[in-house]
Parts: sequence; structure tokens; C-alpha cells
Amino acid sequence: MRKTFLTFVAFCLVVSAYANENLHPLITNVPNRTAKSLNGQWDYIIDRYEVGYYDYRLQPGKWGFFKDQKPKSESDLVEYSFEKSKKMFIPGDWNTADQELKYYEGTVWFRKTFDFSPEENERYFLYFGAVNYEALVYLNGEYIGSHKGGFTPFNFEVTGKLKNGHNFVVVKVDNTRHKDEVPTVNTDWWNYGGITRDVLILKESETFVRDFSVFLSDGKYNEISGWVQLDGTNLQTPVKVSIPELEEEVTINPDEEGKGTFSLKAKPDLWSPQNPKLYEISISVAGNSMREQVAFRHVEAVGNRIHLNGDPVFLRGICIHEEAPFRAGRFNSPAEAHTLLSWAKEMNANFVRLAHYPHNEYMVREAEKMGILVWSEIPVYWTISFTNESTLQNAQNQLEEMITRDKNRGAVIIWSLANETPVSDVRNRFLTKLVQHARKLDDSRLISMAMEKEYHDAFTPAINDPLMDIVDVVSFNTYIGWYDGLPEKCAKMNWKLPNDKPVVISEFGAGALQGYHGTKNQRWTEEYQEELYIQSVAMFDKMDLAGTAPWILMDFMSPRRVLPEIQDGWNRKGLISDQGIKKKAFFIMKEWYKKKR
Ligand code: GCU
Repeated sequence: MRKTFLTFVAFCLVVSAYANENLHPLITNVPNRTAKSLNGQWDYIIDRYEVGYYDYRLQPGKWGFFKDQKPKSESDLVEYSFEKSKKMFIPGDWNTADQELKYYEGTVWFRKTFDFSPEENERYFLYFGAVNYEALVYLNGEYIGSHKGGFTPFNFEVTGKLKNGHNFVVVKVDNTRHKDEVPTVNTDWWNYGGITRDVLILKESETFVRDFSVFLSDGKYNEISGWVQLDGTNLQTPVKVSIPELEEEVTINPDEEGKGTFSLKAKPDLWSPQNPKLYEISISVAGNSMREQVAFRHVEAVGNRIHLNGDPVFLRGICIHEEAPFRAGRFNSPAEAHTLLSWAKEMNANFVRLAHYPHNEYMVREAEKMGILVWSEIPVYWTISFTNESTLQNAQNQLEEMITRDKNRGAVIIWSLANETPVSDVRNRFLTKLVQHARKLDDSRLISMAMEKEYHDAFTPAINDPLMDIVDVVSFNTYIGWYDGLPEKCAKMNWKLPNDKPVVISEFGAGALQGYHGTKNQRWTEEYQEELYIQSVAMFDKMDLAGTAPWILMDFMSPRRVLPEIQDGWNRKGLISDQGIKKKAFFIMKEWYKKKR
């Protein structure tokens, strides 16, 4: 008994020990870097019992699937073969790629073989846009490192580990849900597993610009500032930043840590939904240069309004999950991002809440090109283990990766740190640490989270969340007329809202099966959903709000939605069906937002 217990503890320790090992500091602006894509067909082995990792004593085996062994002779015993295994296109989730894996949660091994000719004096990094949830990464049979968190990028330096000729990458992906992870075990979205975003081999020179930031100086419209972070041995190599369209150029002399700052006098056109102006910038060091497109704008909370470039802006929002239109599953392309964002624009939206986790970089960059303001969030969702130190560390890592990747996206105006987390001392402490971490990483954007309401009585909700004091934007979700009463209850509501900070309704809505019609009191009909929207916008007209974001743009998959003939695994609160068909309520929102423009 004692022996089995110790073996079990050893097993848990091994599992949890693999959180974020050997990661290289995150390289940003990846879409504009020199890279070899490893996207395409990957072989995969479904490994429910993790025989590819553990031996029968539950000890990590040294001859696991990461070795990609082949029988050397007819009598050689090798009990797996990537060659003979199934293939799927990466990036993508396994749930929609393979019917057998629709509901699968566990380990799947992926292998990619590729030829490569590493060049002298060049450095190489293996980069993943995202892997859900835990990734153990191997190159040519050697353990490279690991990462946890399904929605943010990570990279490893593999200089000297790439061979001239045949190479193979093996990734053990495990999307098993655990209580102490982020998110925890219960979510209202499908736990899509797999290598869901781009896999690249980045090539960089010995000393390169790993990270940088360019923005309007605080409170100024005629000065641009920024910093660069070099990576390599010659950390004090001068770096040139130029903005050709503004005929501006500056040379930075980084310090011994390779960090350098700059500011220059310039008056760029300001980015806004009406004028999504982007400036091409070029950053060069040691003769190598890199481009990036940057939006210059200011965002701040002024009293109970959000100001963009000094003027109040009402956030005409909509929530979106990172699920592909027409086919379900995770998407990872500018085209599918464009489709979803075009539907949002068609609804007269100027703002999207990307729920409940950082979406792929294509989505954020496309929103910026299309002039759509962005709320980006980490999956601290519902009942996270607030007392667990490694859960906090995990949440902070995901927060850091989110901010690091998207800090140069001017369209991103709000970092959201949580959704519907129950008020408690441990929760308050946990989230306060996250707010402090976010402000340390980026104090130029607004901080928020979807907070808890309390009811003085059935018709008098108030936002009394203690964390209201530490955020910039007070947000909450409300389902008056769906989870709470019928649509007509909206007219009776008497909201107690703070008036010293902007208040954004981060969710409201109702379910409706597209094409299902009936009376306005008949649940699941388009008429019921339409009525709820009619009543809700009338209620909002009486409230002093800075923005709204209906739940949700498009129906999405959720294992919590099991009502036959209506839900069948779908959350039906979309204003558009998963097949792109608009429901009646879509037009109510479109009209209301037209008036709000
Ligand atoms: C919650 C939650 C969403 C969920 C929605 C719903 O408020 O934040 O993730 O999908 O309500 O119940 O449909």
C-alpha cells in the first residue's frame, strides 16, 4: 500500500514538474521573421495509457515514442510506428480532425520529419503558436523542453541541435483537464486538444532583436517612444529604428543587458476604428532588419468613460470564441478571422471581447487592420484553485505570454484577467497579484475582468466586487431574461452601478436555435432571443454604460450543452448560427449599435 502510494506521488510529481521547462524568452513579431514552417501533415499516435512515456512501473522510459525508433532487424521489438500511424494537418485540433477523437482528452504524440541545413553562425528557435494544453517537446530524440497553457506561444533555442539533412520533432500533447490548472476542469467551451497554431523554426543571427515595443509617449501625441531587447553575445550592438512614412529614424545604444530605449518627436496619424492607420517600422541590427506594422493611439479611462485618442468612445462590442465558422474546431488563419470580424462589423460593432483565452495572433492583427478594438483575456475562469501557488504561477505565465505577444497591437485596449470568479479572500489575493503583474508588464492599457454582482433584492443588482477598486474598467456578465427571469424582467431592473469608472457589460444574451420559430415567450426560438435583446437594449438605454458585449457572435461547441434537438453539444447563444446564418436578434443589436455610433 505504502509503496503504491509513493509510486503514485512520484507519478504526480513527474507530471507537475514539467511546467514550462527550458523555455527561451518569448520572441515577438514572429509573423515578420525569417522562418521555416513545419505546418502540414504530422503523424500522430493516440496514447491513452501514455505507454509512449511511462514504463509499466509508471517511470518515464528512456525509450519512449520521442525516440521514433524503427526495428533494426526482423527480430527487433518496436511496438509503435509513426510511419504507419494516422496523419493530420497541423495546426489544428484533433477533435474535429479525427472523429475518433471528438471527445478525447488525454495524450496524443505528434511527429514531423523534415530536412534542414543549418547555417554557420545562425541561431535557430523552435516556435509554437499554441499547444493545448501541456506540450513535451523533443528534437531528434532529445528532450528540448515543456510548456503548459493552451492559448499562448512559446519557443526553445535549438541552435546546434538541428542536423544537416533528416530531422524529426516529436511533441507529446496532453489536454487532460486538472483542477489546479488554468483553466480548471469546468469550462463552457470545447477542450480542443492538439497543436492548434503555427509551428516554425525561426532563424536569427548571433545577436538579434528578440523583443521591442513602440508606442506614443505617455500623454503625448507628438512623441513616439519605445525599447528594444537584444538577444545574443554582442548585447551593446547599436540598433536602428526607422519609421519611413514619418521620415524618422533613431539609433539606440543598448546597455550591457541588451536593452535600449528611445523617443523621437513625431506626430503620427492616430489609429481608431474610423481610421485604422498602421505605420510600417523597420528595426535593424548588425545589418539585419525586421519590419512591423504599428498603430499609434492613446486609451484611458476618464471618469466613467473610455477615451480613445482623447475622445469618449462607446464600446459597441460582441464576444467571440476562437472557433471556426462553418466547420467548428480551432481556427488559425487570417481568412477565418476576417470572416468572424466582418460579421461583427456588419453588426456595427467597433469592439470584440476575445473570450476566454488569448486568441491566435492572426485574429488580433486582423482586428487591428479592420479597425476593431480588442479585449484579450486569460482563462482564469470560474472556480480556479486560488490557494495553489503553482496555479498562480501558471496564470502569471499565461498573462506574461499574452502581453508579450500582443503589446505592440494598438487595437488591444483591455487586458482581462478573469471571468466570473467567486468572491473570496483567496480569490481577491490571487487576482490582485495578477493585476499587479499586468500593470508591471504594461501600464498603457486598461485592466478589467468579468466581475461578480450581488443583489439587494431580485430587481436591484449592484456591482460590489472588492476588486472594483483595482481595475480600470468595471465589467460584469448579466443574463436577466435567460438564467434570471423572462425578458420582460429587464424593464423592472434598477441597477446600482459605480459612476467613477467605466462600466462595460461583458456578457448578456439568450439561446436560440437558428430557424426555430415560435412565440416570444417560447424558449430557444429566435423570437425569444429577439425579445430578450429588445428588452435588454431598452434596459441599457437607462444605464450609464461605457460599452456592451453580447454573448456571443456565433454558436459554439460546449460539452455542457446537451439538450437534444436544440443544443446537441452547442451553446446556442450565438447571434449567428455556426453556419453563418443570422438570427433575428442580430438585427436588434445592429440597429441599437447604429444609434450608438
Ligand atoms: C457565462 C460564461 C460563458 C458561458 C455563458 C453561457 O457567463 O462566462 O463562458 O458560455 O455564460 O452560459 O452561455
